[in-house]
Amino acid sequence: MERDRVVIFDTTLRDGEQSPGCSMTVQEKLRMAPQLDRLGVDVIEAGFPIASDGDFEAVHAIAARARRPIVAGLARACTPDIERAWQALKVAAHPRIHVFLATSDIHLKYKLRMSRQQCLEQARDAVRLAKSFCEDIEFSPEDATRTDPDFLCEVLEAVIEAGATTLNIPDTVGYTVPTEFGDLIKTIRQRVRGIEKTIISAHCHNDLGLAVVNTLAAVAAGARQVECAINGIGERAGNAALEEIVMAFRVRADQYPYQTGVITEQLYPTSQLLSEIIGVPVQPNKAIIGRNAFAHAAGIHQDGMLKNPLTYEIITPQTVGVPDSTLVLGKHSGRHALGARYEKLGFQFDRRELDEIYRRFLMLADEIRIVHDQHLLELVRETDGGKVARTEAPQHAAHESTSVPASKPSPRPSASLPVNPMAEHHSDQEDYLWGV
Ligand code: KIV
Ligand code: ZN
Repeated sequence: MERDRVVIFDTTLRDGEQSPGCSMTVQEKLRMAPQLDRLGVDVIEAGFPIASDGDFEAVHAIAARARRPIVAGLARACTPDIERAWQALKVAAHPRIHVFLATSDIHLKYKLRMSRQQCLEQARDAVRLAKSFCEDIEFSPEDATRTDPDFLCEVLEAVIEAGATTLNIPDTVGYTVPTEFGDLIKTIRQRVRGIEKTIISAHCHNDLGLAVVNTLAAVAAGARQVECAINGIGERAGNAALEEIVMAFRVRADQYPYQTGVITEQLYPTSQLLSEIIGVPVQPNKAIIGRNAFAHAAGIHQDGMLKNPLTYEIITPQTVGVPDSTLVLGKHSGRHALGARYEKLGFQFDRRELDEIYRRFLMLADEIRIVHDQHLLELVRETDGGKVARTEAPQHAAHESTSVPASKPSPRPSASLPVNPMAEHHSDQEDYLWGV
């Protein structure tokens, strides 16, 4: 593997489905897995085979069908879990058993009720058993970021000797911060014997909203696998969002010169499919794939976008599979966006006409959040008694946001309002200068 290639380990179907309300049936996982394959992820963590018969079936079916990606199944560090995982995975072209055991004193004392020595031995024995079935073994010391680093290094050394090929460092409770996590990865690289034969992986949770940035810090410090989920779903506040990590690499290659196998044009379709399957909408302002990620509302921004999208977009929507940017017409919009929208609908106005219709548009926009095409058509009828003729057939409405929630019914602007002299259109700069 090239030095700067980062393995994308997708855990949407395992950690992702552990988020409340996001669990998936066998059929649903079977719909999602081919899309993850199309997206180009390197590893699909398909589930936790011992968890239920359904999850076993899902992992088995995905393992049987996926030919390119590695298919991983999760197992606690105990014989029944590892055997069950192997039963589900053995049909895979590229199987991986992912074994985990908590290593922090908090987990050892209160959850597992075992000593550090017992933990170390159990981890080593479990990896040995898994290795007797499968070449590709990942080990995760759960709660690694709250584990004593000396003990963490000891455990990692033991599991490497037992045959682990990927060492995943989970920030299970989303507690770490970028500098600390980067330093931990560097410490592991410096101190763990045999580490150079393995791949270090980062698995970050988002409890402090730092999952993506912690993951990036781990990669900068030498991790070469990232565990992440579509739409950032996962336990509690979620996992690091796959789409954000991949696009940070792509857009800021100057800072993060790493390659992935992800086809970025598949990011939005994958996000939409997941959202449809689990019935959980993506938050509108979600980076990269949220409804507002390529929607512009402020007049200054719309004016800039119409002049050159480089002014306000660092990614073209098409790069991530979003059909187009949207200019959402509302009270912050300016004449430039309004006129451009009318042109798409087949109307052309001179300055005076545009001022008048803009004045009425603003009154309407003060009442309703988003002004849609049908409202604009009503405005034309009312402003000019229908006299303003269409110049041509309406063009495809590429710029109107079709996915915005329905606005309230439009109140009619009064026909006899005084003209506001401040609303006169004086120059091409006006949208910029006034911010409307
Ligand atoms: O967050 C975590 O620690 C996990 C492990 C099972 C890798 O999900
Ligand atoms: Zn996790």
